[in-house]
Amino acid sequence: MKRILITGGAGFIGNHVVRLFVNKFPEYEIYNLDQLTYAGNLENLKDIEGKENYTFIKGDITNAQFIDELFIKYQFEGVIHLAAESHVDRSISDPLAFVNTNVIGTVNLLNAAKSCWANDYSNKLFYHISTDEVYGSLGEEGLFTEETSYDPQSPYSASKGSSDHFVRAYANTYKLPIVISNCSNNYGPNQFPEKLLPLCINNIKNNKPLPIYGKGENIRDWLYVVDHARAINTIFHQGRAGETYNIGGINEWKNIDIVKLLCDIMDKKLNRPEGKSRELITFVKDRAGHDMRYAIDASKIEKELGWTPSLQFEEGLEKTVDWYLSNTNWLENVTSGDYQNYYSNQYQS
Ligand code: NAD
Ligand code: DAU
Repeated sequence: MKRILITGGAGFIGNHVVRLFVNKFPEYEIYNLDQLTYAGNLENLKDIEGKENYTFIKGDITNAQFIDELFIKYQFEGVIHLAAESHVDRSISDPLAFVNTNVIGTVNLLNAAKSCWANDYSNKLFYHISTDEVYGSLGEEGLFTEETSYDPQSPYSASKGSSDHFVRAYANTYKLPIVISNCSNNYGPNQFPEKLLPLCINNIKNNKPLPIYGKGENIRDWLYVVDHARAINTIFHQGRAGETYNIGGINEWKNIDIVKLLCDIMDKKLNRPEGKSRELITFVKDRAGHDMRYAIDASKIEKELGWTPSLQFEEGLEKTVDWYLSNTNWLENVTSGDYQNYYSNQYQS
């Protein structure tokens, strides 16, 4: 495969995937399709924007005609689909936006790939990037495997689960060559500061309260974003068509513990007295329908494809903090304007 469409490449995970593919495969043509919503930012891709094998296309996956024409024009051979509305809290206040982008947008891409590839499915692949949240919430025990039944609990995860079902339905009904991966929580450079870790990094830096939902006992499994991009590369090239692969960090943390660790790391980096940033921790009203625990069994991708996370968590978190502290312009740009309205609606009520 040579001509690859990556959707959502200006977002958090997408920019790391685009960078990896553009740098690692100079013989591929990489097309990054992104609508540049509040979460998409071309500043993320400054280092590769001049590369010969890279093209940016601004466009909306919910526009079926535009997507059909794009496939006719470029005759993509592979698709890596990341574009989505991705924040659970926003899905609680505006579920329809998530239906439009995550469900309708995905079906538009499936239709365009199906008709573009109709006569020849050889060397074609539609790779859909999904989330562990489709499996619902775990109790104290157990892990999500690829066989775990879907049980989405938020409008976000319901929209992602629905898009996964459409992708599998196109494989079953039209024999479209597909692969799906479901990943746990990513962290790392370039994440929009509405998500827990970058929000807390930004607030610690500015001495603002750190809003912890409920008692902070919810558990997430954290993976460094570049390790996710590596896994996507592995699955794209070596994954078996029709299969699902779970990706995770084997790295479970209670929210309160991860935020305390972050405070301690930042106290050192900012030369603050030990324990100073922990004073900013503030327990706030819980997220509606808050999933208690996610944890991934990533043994299939390890056994079949040889992928494992490469970074220890503390090392990844330090790298992440360093990135935010040395990219203050990026942080200031994305937190000006609309972010202020979002923040006061979400946290002042
Ligand atoms: P993000 O919100 O940072 O980026 C999403 C990107 O999609 C943005 O660049 C945005 O501009 C673009 N986009 C949104 N609507 C669009 C539209 N209608 N047309 C074209 N582009 C549009 O998201 P992320 O955290 O990078 O997540 C990427 C994908 O990975 C999503 O599908 C998400 O469900 C999945 N995922 C995320 C995580 C995580 O921890 N962040 C974990 C597992 C899976
Ligand atoms: O599990 C994969 C998912 O991880 C992805 O599919 C989503 O796109 C991604 O946003 C992420 O979802 P979460 O809801 O787990 O991430 P978030 O950073 O929003 O929240 C992490 C945990 O921290 C969660 O238990 C809620 C809590 N939280 C979050 C925020 C924003 C707080 O306590 N306070 C906050 O202000």
